[in-house]
Amino acid sequence: MPVFLISRDTIEEVKNRVDIVDVISDFVSLKKSGQNYKALSPFSNEKTASFFVVPSKGIFKDFSSGKGGDAFTFVMEHEKMSYTEAIRYLAKKYGVEIKEDKQSDESREQQTEREGLYILMNFAKEFYKKTLLESEEGRSIGLSYFRERGFNDRTIEKFELGYALEGWENFSKEAISKGYNKDLLEKTGLVVKKEEGAEGAGRTYDRFRGRVIFPVHNISGKVIAFGARMMGKDKNQPKYINSPETEIYHKSDVLYGLYQGKNAIRNAANCYLVEGYTDVISMHQSGVENVVASSGTALTEGQIKLIHRFTDNVTVLFDGDSAGIKAALRGIDMFLKGGLNVRVLLFPDGEDPDSYSRKVGTTAFQEFLKDKTQDFVSFKTSLYAAEAGGDPIRKAESIKEIVASIALIPDPVKRSVYIQETSNLLKIAEPVLLTELNRILIQERRKADKDKFRDAGQGGEAQEAVGVEPVQEVNDAKIDTGSMVYYQERETIRLLLNYASQNLAEQNLSEFLLNELEDVEFSNPIFKQVFEEFKSGLAKGQIPDSQYFLQHGNDEMKRAVTGLITHRYETSQHWGDKYKIFIPKENDVLNELALTNVLRLKFRVVQKMMEENLIAVKHAEEKSDWDELDKALETQAGLKRAESELAGMLGIVVAK
Ligand code: CTP
Ligand code: MN
Repeated sequence: MPVFLISRDTIEEVKNRVDIVDVISDFVSLKKSGQNYKALSPFSNEKTASFFVVPSKGIFKDFSSGKGGDAFTFVMEHEKMSYTEAIRYLAKKYGVEIKEDKQSDESREQQTEREGLYILMNFAKEFYKKTLLESEEGRSIGLSYFRERGFNDRTIEKFELGYALEGWENFSKEAISKGYNKDLLEKTGLVVKKEEGAEGAGRTYDRFRGRVIFPVHNISGKVIAFGARMMGKDKNQPKYINSPETEIYHKSDVLYGLYQGKNAIRNAANCYLVEGYTDVISMHQSGVENVVASSGTALTEGQIKLIHRFTDNVTVLFDGDSAGIKAALRGIDMFLKGGLNVRVLLFPDGEDPDSYSRKVGTTAFQEFLKDKTQDFVSFKTSLYAAEAGGDPIRKAESIKEIVASIALIPDPVKRSVYIQETSNLLKIAEPVLLTELNRILIQERRKADKDKFRDAGQGGEAQEAVGVEPVQEVNDAKIDTGSMVYYQERETIRLLLNYASQNLAEQNLSEFLLNELEDVEFSNPIFKQVFEEFKSGLAKGQIPDSQYFLQHGNDEMKRAVTGLITHRYETSQHWGDKYKIFIPKENDVLNELALTNVLRLKFRVVQKMMEENLIAVKHAEEKSDWDELDKALETQAGLKRAESELAGMLGIVVAK
């Protein structure tokens, strides 16, 4: 990717020249109101003006959407441009010459090449358009095909549809005669070179021949690729031939129809997703313009982000056949994960938006969209209800499927709304669904934590809570319960030494920890000693601090205490920067830290006790002392229950 560095001077110059009222007036009709201007929000549908421009400060504020900023921000938000694009746009508007610096020769070359590709693609588009409308073959084959499909002149122009003539070199010849070089022709993918070894190796020919042409535009309307549909029904040919990936065409970040539909998507606050070129076009003809197509490829994350730039809501339209349903299910989950609200509309088996809209006509089609759209929960519910019939096992499976989708939603409030709806629809008590949901979420979180720590070069033993550094000295390969207990004891002492008098919700930290850990016997003698000192200090109403231990302790204690009070936070900060992991300041998460520390220490102590008790079990077995065995097993069961309970509170899954 080339890096465009617009010079500071240019940016300053543009900033000096822009007049925010002038900039915004190109898109919004502003009314003067005192010193300022106001208007209906261009970012949301509303009836009262809540969009304000303050020229004296050079800013705008939109109270209905919360957006606000300067002229650059406005252009970026409204036109969905990047910062650089916004600067270029405003520089052009105000006639500021753009100077770029520090750009390497290489990136300048790349930029020139990209520009070359755009220019040639545009030339090709014009050529195919002209061929469609003006050549004999174009009219009799291409245009009559589009007519047959019901596309009118406006539609053909809007989507810049075209036709590529039969014959191997019609386009190449034209392009070369206009001075485009062969290299560039190949780089656009419009011309193909025969492989080495093949007959006529090295010779080139047009990629698109005897096909109607669908140009693919990027967001700003430049043509970056073509799809070409065959005429007739030759079984040996692919129905569509598409442009290959190029410097300007990255298939996974492109949606067909987005350029033509982006304003409608923003205004309707919803985006329909369909499969193909012709679906997009037919929907436009039926008056539904907020539509894009993934164009035959499986939906990608890049495409989802692209939609999300324009709206939070998407409606997935699919064939009612099994392939369509499968694709719909996959799409739903991906959108949910991306934080979008998803609805689904399945067409009758064998119909797609294109065929169906032509079959029933504009009005009925629009009503169909309105009436038959379901949210994803009811879609999945009815799908599985039909599949499962009365089979309770299948029903249980389908509940899992639905809850698994809900678990993908990042927003907890939305999750709970969907859980309620599922509960109503399936007549299943909410707690049952919530338990299932929690199970999935906890597993996910554990997995994410593990990945995070692995990525950060740390061991796999998950440190579940926020704010805690990974345990450096505990190697994940062989974590024995003994060292886990040691680590948690040390963490307790560390918290006491650093935050003993800090207030938690009801008590200070030392009161909380000492109460909670009343029954816990510390194994490490130094930690035990410190803990006991805190106990007796607190009883006297005098909480010791680290100074106290540094003055009164023996060398060993002094060393331990020093190690625990030197600030570890700086390393965390660095670690956070480096791995982009959010590590809050310990002070902000003290409640959470204290609580998880207590739970974890108990958890590890219980595990250690289980280990020790197992030895007792073994001895009893060896001695055939059945009473003893009975007792030991009962103890083990009790410990196991405690372990599970603590694990549940910590969100850890333990073996049954
Ligand atoms: N597609 C493709 N290559 C193929 C078949 C399909 O790239 N060999 C892509 C195209 O983007 C097409 C989409 O998948 O638009 C959907 O395929 P399909 O439903 O078969 O095509 P339609 O666009 O519906 O075309 P038509 O209505 O003419 O059959
Ligand atoms: Mn079709």
